[in-house]
Amino acid sequence: MKKTIRDLDVAGKRVFVRADFNVPVDKSGVITDDTRIQAVLPTVRNLRERGARVILASHFGRPKGKVVEDMRLQPVADRLSELLGASIKYVSDCIGEEPEGAAAALQDGDVLLLENLRFHPEEENNDSAFSKQLASLADMYVNDAFGTAHRAHASTEGITHHLPSVAGLLMEKELNSLGGLLVSPKHPFACVFGGAKVSDKIGIIRNMLQRVDLVLVGGGLAATFLKARGLDIGQSLVEDGMIDECRTIMRESDGSRIPLLLPIDLLVAKEAKAGTRTRVVQVTGVPADCMIVDIGPKTIEYFFEKLEFCRTVLWNGPMGIYEVPQFSLGTRCLINYLAGLDAASVIGGGSSVDAVQEMGVGELVTHVSTGGGATLELLEKGTLPGVEALDNPD
Ligand code: 3PG
Repeated sequence: MKKTIRDLDVAGKRVFVRADFNVPVDKSGVITDDTRIQAVLPTVRNLRERGARVILASHFGRPKGKVVEDMRLQPVADRLSELLGASIKYVSDCIGEEPEGAAAALQDGDVLLLENLRFHPEEENNDSAFSKQLASLADMYVNDAFGTAHRAHASTEGITHHLPSVAGLLMEKELNSLGGLLVSPKHPFACVFGGAKVSDKIGIIRNMLQRVDLVLVGGGLAATFLKARGLDIGQSLVEDGMIDECRTIMRESDGSRIPLLLPIDLLVAKEAKAGTRTRVVQVTGVPADCMIVDIGPKTIEYFFEKLEFCRTVLWNGPMGIYEVPQFSLGTRCLINYLAGLDAASVIGGGSSVDAVQEMGVGELVTHVSTGGGATLELLEKGTLPGVEALDNPD
């Protein structure tokens, strides 16, 4: 583990906190899920209570190095100040005179939010002069942006060359929960993978296959695996370029005797839209004019039987096109099942997390990660550039 904010004497110091405030907003700019803002509050509160002068910075969206009015952090500033119950200072850039003046004027316990880091192309280019400018605002650096720790950018990597650099409390929690799965999980340990693309998940499936006792595959991924097994999957989206990879993984699973289980029945429809007629078919009976939209009821039972005795379960990726309520049964049943399971249950990444939050059962599972790509990369590679860059304990 890296040094954390507990290792720093922060009283009276300006502390640059890199957060991941890349939150979903609706068309009118209203935040629709503030989980990522809430998740950074323990670090901000801890620093304020200890007399630090907190400078928060984040990216928001992908403005490609230009000022995009819709991607300003104003909604985040408003929500942050509401959640903290204190007014915060928000400036319209992250470098230059305005932030410099605001940082210098901070008093102990004050909070300053800088503007979207990605308005400057130098952020994503990890430009060293830009990192230095960011660093010049503060005395020490905290990375609490777990969701962005897979990016080696100026505010996640470059800046660590100029300041004492430690992990925040969210970063620490994510690394303990997810990293713990790689180091000392309780067995039997199962992974459940879903989501749309095999190419996004192949690395993590391969890595986890060496560490778990069982792998279950549903969602869009299953179609490519089923095709690799020689089954007809009708009009389902398939990554033909990944078929050989799927075959290799299945051979590895056979060789290591770690079962990789695919659905035994499926929900299919002619179109992936609400109101379409659906039917349940055996895995060998997908009609040529239909596509797979969810796992079937027998598969749900079959997967639960397999998970029943597991002591650790990692789940990543929905079991079907869960955004369409008709196709969401597999995903919803899995979430409810994990919420009631007497095991360490870790939900990693992107839309699985959205689905858990929507169902309001986040409290009932052991850990819901705030990362998308970062979660997958950590579980695939065991480390992240934004974490590597932080100071090691003395
Ligand atoms: C995320 O939402 O996964 C992170 O904020 C990283 O965003 P990015 O993929 O645009 O770097």
